[in-house]
Amino acid sequence: MRMNEVIVSMQGISKSFPGVKALDNVRFELRSGEVMALLGENGAGKSTLMKILSGVYTRDAGTIEIFGKSYGDLTPKQAQAVGVAIIHQELNMCRHLTVAENMFLGREIYKGFMLDNAAMEREAARVLGELKIDISPRQVVGDLPVSKQQMVEIAKALSTNARVLIMDEPTSALTSKEIDDLFRIIRQLRANGCGIVYISHRLEELAHIVDRVTIMRDGQYITSMNFQDVTLDEIIAHMVGREIKEKFPRVECEKGKKVFEVKHLNAGRMVRDVSFELYEGEIVGFAGLMGAGRTETTRAIFGVDPKESGEILLDGKPVSICSPQDAIQAGIVLAPEDRKKDGLCTKLSIRHNIALPNLDLLCNRLGVVSTTKEDAMCDQAVDNLKIKTPNVDVDAGNLSGGNQQKVVVGKWLARNSRVVMFDEPTRGIDVAAKVEIYNLMNQLKQQGIAVMFVSSEMPEVMGIADRIIVMCDGRITGELSARETTQNEILTYATRFENKFAQDEGSAKA
Ligand SMILES: Nc1ncnc2c1ncn2[C@@H]1O[C@H](COP(=O)(O)OP(=O)(O)OP(=O)(O)O)[C@@H](O)[C@H]1O
Ligand SMILES: [Mg+2]
Repeated sequence: MRMNEVIVSMQGISKSFPGVKALDNVRFELRSGEVMALLGENGAGKSTLMKILSGVYTRDAGTIEIFGKSYGDLTPKQAQAVGVAIIHQELNMCRHLTVAENMFLGREIYKGFMLDNAAMEREAARVLGELKIDISPRQVVGDLPVSKQQMVEIAKALSTNARVLIMDEPTSALTSKEIDDLFRIIRQLRANGCGIVYISHRLEELAHIVDRVTIMRDGQYITSMNFQDVTLDEIIAHMVGREIKEKFPRVECEKGKKVFEVKHLNAGRMVRDVSFELYEGEIVGFAGLMGAGRTETTRAIFGVDPKESGEILLDGKPVSICSPQDAIQAGIVLAPEDRKKDGLCTKLSIRHNIALPNLDLLCNRLGVVSTTKEDAMCDQAVDNLKIKTPNVDVDAGNLSGGNQQKVVVGKWLARNSRVVMFDEPTRGIDVAAKVEIYNLMNQLKQQGIAVMFVSSEMPEVMGIADRIIVMCDGRITGELSARETTQNEILTYATRFENKFAQDEGSAKA
């Protein structure tokens, strides 16, 4: 394949959904042998544009040229045949099928009339091996953690021999080791002349791989340029349409009384003798490497996973939590990590997603939902979090990724909770919306609510939390003051494994 030739050219692309003009006369060009970052705030239209290029959506207007050939209504099959592959933002796999079955879905290998499972597993193993992904092709996808599912999704796209590869937020769920592997693969594909579209809200990682950027805002094309010729602040200003002054707005509060206490919590291998306290007027950040047991800790507290032993005290009184319902009733809530699986009903409207866990507040004594209260609750969530939607009756699954996350958080705003736990709250969220989520956490902190959040973004933990608890291998290994600590100190605790063997593994991860 020749280098630096225009291989994709989209001109005048428009696309509307009921009540939303998602794309308005957008143009986009991709050359062979380049990595093009496609950037913009949540809801800017990035995923929609790329779904049009891969045949998932049909455009309302505009022209699409791929390798010099013009396509009208491009179908997914046509797109695949010409070499366009897309890794979707929201994991898009059949959870009950195996890794190999997912990778060959729709393009199964046959031996006569029979499926050739052995051949598919062999081919899957080859691609996974090339990516250095340690997953068996026979494993059921639903049993894998999110980061592994994401790697399978990537392997699936690569196994199609793509010449145009679209990656929509591929790293949002990956460990730093996996990200390094991915970047290595991207560089290799680029060297082979593949054109790569890279969508990410992690702007700091762009410098590692990106050649050019295209910026969109509110469904419109803003500009394209060489990455070398711009600064990150300029990129952000183009994306947001204004400057963002403070990326981590921290508010100072007086530390009040103890609200929440977890004593000697044990739950499976990943939660071992976990004890900590949360106070009024502070935000506690849980730092650590992926797989340190932070998510498992929140799940055990929230009653999703069973606890083996330990005590939970709220305002000094022991509470018994055997299910999420117990936790919500007690005033302890969780905004989970995997929003599509645990955080949202994508087939329900924003309204119902927000109303469902709050029915106790919305129903009268006869069990009838007050629509006035429901409207008020939803409007408040949409306003507070600036959820970008024409109205609250839109299916949550149709919102842009970042706006879905806001709905997950929004449903807990309505309750007078005492403890709010966030697991990776800003994953896949744009710079401006991140600040909104931080402000929301600050708001809760000022109201005297105990706030804790799990995050793998070090600058975020250091910038927003007051106190940092570090976990490694299911245990708490350190507690630090966010204002005084350094990334290195956090990492030291994050890799404090108990034995030598595990330590080697940990330093490989870090
Ligand atoms: N299937 C759909 N039905 C209705 N509206 C949709 C649909 N898909 C996207 N939209 C709307 O189109 C707009 C653009 O969404 P899109 O998903 O392309 O944004 P994005 O730039 O990918 O955002 P993010 O960074 O949050 O992923 C949003 O307002 C979104 O709500
Ligand atoms: Mg998107």
